Amino acid sequence: MSLFRKKSIDTILKNAETESHHGGLAKHLGVRDLTAFGIAAIIGAGIFSTIGKASADGGPGVILLFIFTAVACSFAAFAYAEFASLIPVSGSAYTYSYVAFGELFAWIIGWALIMEYAIGNVTVAISWSDYFSSLVQNSTNYRVNEWLCMDYFTAKHNYDLVSSMLVAGVPLEEIQKNGQTAGLVEGFVAYGQAPNLFGMRIIFDAPALFINIIITMLVYRGIKESRNASNIMVMIKIVVVLLVIFVGAFFVDTKNWNPFLPNGIGGLLSGISAVFFAYIGFDAISTTAEECKNPQRDLPRGILYSIIICTILYVAIALVITGMVSYTELNVGDPLAYVFEKVQSLHWLGGVIAVSAVVAMASVMLVFQLGQPRIWMSMSRDGLLPPAFAKIHPKFKTPSFSTIFTGFLVAVPIFFVDINMVTDICSAGTLFAFCLVCAGVLKLRMDPTAPPSKFKTPYVNSKLIIPILFVLTLVLLFVYNRPWIDYYLKWESFNAFLTKIPIYFFFIGFAFLSVMAFKYNFSLIPTLGLLSCFYMLSQLGYKNWLYFTIWLIIGLIIYFAYGRKHSKLAPKKI
Ligand code: ALA
Repeated sequence: MSLFRKKSIDTILKNAETESHHGGLAKHLGVRDLTAFGIAAIIGAGIFSTIGKASADGGPGVILLFIFTAVACSFAAFAYAEFASLIPVSGSAYTYSYVAFGELFAWIIGWALIMEYAIGNVTVAISWSDYFSSLVQNSTNYRVNEWLCMDYFTAKHNYDLVSSMLVAGVPLEEIQKNGQTAGLVEGFVAYGQAPNLFGMRIIFDAPALFINIIITMLVYRGIKESRNASNIMVMIKIVVVLLVIFVGAFFVDTKNWNPFLPNGIGGLLSGISAVFFAYIGFDAISTTAEECKNPQRDLPRGILYSIIICTILYVAIALVITGMVSYTELNVGDPLAYVFEKVQSLHWLGGVIAVSAVVAMASVMLVFQLGQPRIWMSMSRDGLLPPAFAKIHPKFKTPSFSTIFTGFLVAVPIFFVDINMVTDICSAGTLFAFCLVCAGVLKLRMDPTAPPSKFKTPYVNSKLIIPILFVLTLVLLFVYNRPWIDYYLKWESFNAFLTKIPIYFFFIGFAFLSVMAFKYNFSLIPTLGLLSCFYMLSQLGYKNWLYFTIWLIIGLIIYFAYGRKHSKLAPKKI
């Protein structure tokens, strides 16, 4: 059916070769650079910032979440590695889906990846700004104006809340003193002090905007420059992360690891989006395939090495921070700096961590800002986006228009959105992409004529394992978690029903996958990758599913209005 028209691997590789003869991208990357790019993209806002809340909610048991997420990501990483070695071109998951599922899915995944890279960068830019502003303040005593440090809607929302408390007679000092409401005062001040332009308050996150412009310029300037900058940033952050682990280990009090799961599995799972966010990024290196010297050999290695290194570091960090202070104290935006500031003799390390957080987050932005334009470039080469997106700068050899456009796309939400919302949406988009890449490998391997990949995921037949796992899960739920089943089967109200939809989808998907695995002897690793990523997706809350669905509908409208007609695969008019 023409909706699912596919491109063959041969055609994709031939096109990429033609492009490279006509002034394509410059090839400078080896396995060390790729591993460094992976680490550059992975270690950032997640470990320096968003895991604070995950640790406070989940307790020391958050390390289980780190391990589970690492395993799920590794399964997905195998699928990426297999595809990256089979089709070493810049489009990453977008191109893989084009081969496995056809154009419509490819478009959907390309569209979802904007959520990962561009929206992910909004999150990182906002976190970067938090660390940067407090660094400036602590080291120079200069306080950046509140209206230059946050988004408009958060400021307005907090202003309205504080105003209503003031009207109700609560004094400002009391609001400031109360831990529950103190955080609102910044927004109140920002909105109150912001200048007016045509009746509209000017409030935006200036440091976030600033770092976005710098990174866009760097990425525009060239892959070699980006690589050199990324390598230096990775060195700095690894040294600091190791310092945190080794120095912190001496201050661990094992009593803090008890209770291990203070808020049960529910508390633990509420941190899934934050922990998953910390792992996002290894896939971004596959977008540099056309800039690698030997992509088929080096890409799979780069992906797997970077994920292994980061997992070891993350688990160690989680153990250290939950061991150094009680988990209850970790609900802060800068958990790593916080735990060291608590130790009198280690104050200096808090400052070092703040500096390296700024560096680490900038490196994440760098890799994401590299990834997004390259996906657009691939979509444009296929005709799904206007030709400008595929334009390569004659001197710098980078996708010039796409790079600048990405900068704009990251800049606009910086004015309006708050960090929690973008973190969740980014995780949803990425998990969706991971699911499709794992499913893509399964689909590809169902076709006996598909070419072999240089990198092969070890094959274990899941024929019996997946169905047994499904039955076992149901039995365990019935025996040990009957209230959970009752809750999910009970009709309360439409709203309550909405919140349960993601988990219904998961179980339907699990049942379907069991049948397919049995029938087609699916390979175990991609099947488990699909299952675990889908499970995490089902835990993200129905609102994220709703936002994501709206995003996809907008994407489909654009596809049918433009991409479908202009696609290189569209029938030619005579
Ligand atoms: N994993 C990246 C970070 O934590 C997105 O910043």
